[in-house]
Amino acid sequence: MSAKRKTTVGVIFGGRSVEHDVSVVTAHQIMRAFDRELYDVVPVYISRDGRWFSGDPLLDLKNYDDEIISLSGIIPVILSPGVQHHGLILNPLAGRFSKSEIQRLDVVFPAIHGTHGEDGTLQGLLELADIPYVGCKTLASAVANDKIITKMVLNEHDIPMVDGVSFNRADWLEQPEAVIERVRQALGFPVFVKPATTGSSIGIGRANDETVLRSTIDIAAHFDRRILVEKAITGHVEINCSVMGNGDDIRASVLEQPISWDEFLTYEEKYLRGNEGMKSAERIIPAPLSPALTARIQKLAIDAFRVIDGQGIARIDFLVKPDEDVVYLNEINTLPGSLAFYLWEPSGVSMSELVHQLVELAREAYAEKRRSSYDYRTDLINLAQMRGLKGVKGAKSSSTAAVRDST
Ligand SMILES: Nc1ncnc2c1ncn2[C@@H]1O[C@H](COP(=O)(O)OP(=O)(O)O)[C@@H](O)[C@H]1O
Ligand SMILES: [Mg+2]
Repeated sequence: MSAKRKTTVGVIFGGRSVEHDVSVVTAHQIMRAFDRELYDVVPVYISRDGRWFSGDPLLDLKNYDDEIISLSGIIPVILSPGVQHHGLILNPLAGRFSKSEIQRLDVVFPAIHGTHGEDGTLQGLLELADIPYVGCKTLASAVANDKIITKMVLNEHDIPMVDGVSFNRADWLEQPEAVIERVRQALGFPVFVKPATTGSSIGIGRANDETVLRSTIDIAAHFDRRILVEKAITGHVEINCSVMGNGDDIRASVLEQPISWDEFLTYEEKYLRGNEGMKSAERIIPAPLSPALTARIQKLAIDAFRVIDGQGIARIDFLVKPDEDVVYLNEINTLPGSLAFYLWEPSGVSMSELVHQLVELAREAYAEKRRSSYDYRTDLINLAQMRGLKGVKGAKSSSTAAVRDST
């Protein structure tokens, strides 16, 4: 009996994102977790300036410094949007002495945090290439990665969010006083200032007064064209919940309470406490909340994931005041650091099992997508050939377009 063909999974990481380094760590946790009996792992590294590479040296975290791409065994690649390739083109600009080849990818595992990877852009390329991929699809990724749009969409579905106002960098540069006045009127102080689409607390600041507000907005405007200012919640704890699944079959993990000794959970607290990325942050698992409050937060997390048509996995973060029974959904991370695997381990799902389940969910989502037809045949081209292009649009003719359903 022939051995079952292994699945070739391409893990895409790094990227033009302020969270580049976090992605390198998350990706290595993912690549290391794949069962090599079932999977062949192909690393696809995108450099800080956006160039694509592959090659075995990328599998070793020790190789990572600014010179990594000049290591021997590392080759330039592109992920072809053409369905006929179903994967990577190796050495795309091959000359006379080298040959470009195709590396088929059965499934792709996006492992980029933030811009150009968690925001729907990479997902869009994978939709074009028609390759099954892990995690949220283009729309859900784009919505979740944008804090302003997330608030709009979830408010629409009565999911409690902190009050906020948003504006563009141009508004701030042209009419700073008007912006300050809007914040003062709508929110008062203290407030949190956030770039709309960054993550890992990069570019985020707390302002207790107008002077600090000005400088925190300047910082946020350095990282993003769109800026969100929110009421600063005080006397709360942070509670995170991971969700996993597709469609109506979504389940929630146990809850965690990350510990912050600073004004807010900083990049340093998230990643630089230990040497394993998000895994090394200080946290209490399970979060010390009542069963009722725990269940309420898990339900809110599943509801929010459904509202954005989420698929695969996410970590959904909350700001909670247990004594007042107050819960705010803060943000949705569709590619959580370290895949939030430490929230699934307590439910008996190891990292190896987690990545395997995510690949299965990717295949399931792909099969569901394939049930839609993207093929619609008509006589339009024939008509244009016969009548010329001018003759088609708005032409009042008796002949009805014969529809030949190709499916
Ligand atoms: N409205 C708020 N009130 C109080 N703390 C907040 C608020 N918004 C964010 N924070 C703090 O800032 C941290 C980072 O904010 P967050 O919205 O999660 O951005 P990021 O996507 O960068 O993680 C949160 O983990 C929390 O500690
Ligand atoms: Mg956060």
